[in-house]
Amino acid sequence: MITEWQGMFSDNIREYGGYSIGKLFALLNDPSIISLAGGLPSPDMFLKHEMRLVSSRVLEEDIEKVMQYTAIKGENWLLDAIEGFLARDGISVARENIVVTSSGQHGLDLTGRLFLNAGDTVLLDRPTFAGAIVAFQMQRPIFAGVDIQEDGSDVDGFRESVIRLEKEGRKPKFIYVVPDFQNPSGITMSLDKRNALIDLSEEFGIPIVEDSPYRDLRYYGEPIPSIYSLAQKRGLDNVIGLYTFSKLFCPGLRVGFNIGPPDVIENLTNIKEGNVLNTPKFNQDMCAAFLTEMGMEEHLVRCRDYYREKLEVFLGTIERCFPKEMGVTWTKPRGGLFLWMTLPEGIDTHELFYEAIKFKVAFVPGDVFYGENPGRNHMRINFSFASKEQLATAVERLSDCIRDRLSRSG
Ligand SMILES: Cc1ncc(COP(=O)(O)O)c(C=O)c1O
Repeated sequence: MITEWQGMFSDNIREYGGYSIGKLFALLNDPSIISLAGGLPSPDMFLKHEMRLVSSRVLEEDIEKVMQYTAIKGENWLLDAIEGFLARDGISVARENIVVTSSGQHGLDLTGRLFLNAGDTVLLDRPTFAGAIVAFQMQRPIFAGVDIQEDGSDVDGFRESVIRLEKEGRKPKFIYVVPDFQNPSGITMSLDKRNALIDLSEEFGIPIVEDSPYRDLRYYGEPIPSIYSLAQKRGLDNVIGLYTFSKLFCPGLRVGFNIGPPDVIENLTNIKEGNVLNTPKFNQDMCAAFLTEMGMEEHLVRCRDYYREKLEVFLGTIERCFPKEMGVTWTKPRGGLFLWMTLPEGIDTHELFYEAIKFKVAFVPGDVFYGENPGRNHMRINFSFASKEQLATAVERLSDCIRDRLSRSG
């Protein structure tokens, strides 16, 4: 009989705790709590009618293929549709540059498996997407974080880190960034910084992993070219792009894709073979139809209008409920689904999370968004899921909760 399982697990897994925010979300099953914690798109924006129509047609016409194993790399219908989707954003790819993934999280997992040995270094922002940290953590890398700035990654800080690591005989395996409306901060990287990051990558031979779930959810201003497209225009192939259908179409189908040089894609595909084998054809077909025949561009305009309105209500209420003397600051994103609040030093948002539940409001404590040495007084706030009325109430509750906490700290 085996009585002690821990000692039997692999070195990679023994210390691995999984997604700590998942455990916090389990505490939110009281319906009177307004959750600003998840990263859920609004079901109001789901193309339910279109999905019903296309799914019954696909099942009618293609049920045997839908029920069968399918190509590991992805369905041709979807691969071709992705080429068109990216072409409209100034990126030119062929089938050899694409592997379909079972969502963005899978794309991150494959990337970590491809590049990282235990003890390798990953450069990333502080804060950055918690799901990327947990995906890469499987390989036990060392995270070297640099504080993000108002206009995106601190590229000079990245350069200093690379030089410092070089002196220790270490070279980062890649630099991970979410340049558009970053999860969790909502911050967008400026054009100058995107170019500077490409320079850095080129000079030191370090690939950039550009994660882009929110790029099409811009509510104000003009799009800034993706790092992938900028590098491609310079004839460089040092960027790996990660995409998902989760935020633009729906997360339930679990489909995304990675793009990059053929060598990288071939190896990601090999890893996928031993990992999930193929992404379900039915789910891929729905995503291909989303890109080609569900009126995607009009849908994206509706999404932008809808989320912009929520963001405006949200920011307006924050402005009213958090007067300057409270010492709370927040980012003002121009797209995406999140903003980042910073509370006075000394307030631990992990502890505050449990107090906030008593005030019937929830957020994600900021510490989960750090690869190392976590910041303690931040929180990630989602504004896409709750209704406008709920958002306004949630901000009032959050303000009451923080005032209560401040009053107790004197
Ligand atoms: C930056 C970033 N990358 C990847 C993902 C994962 O997306 P998916 O739900 O498709 O796994 C998310 C989801 O929130 C994200 O914010």
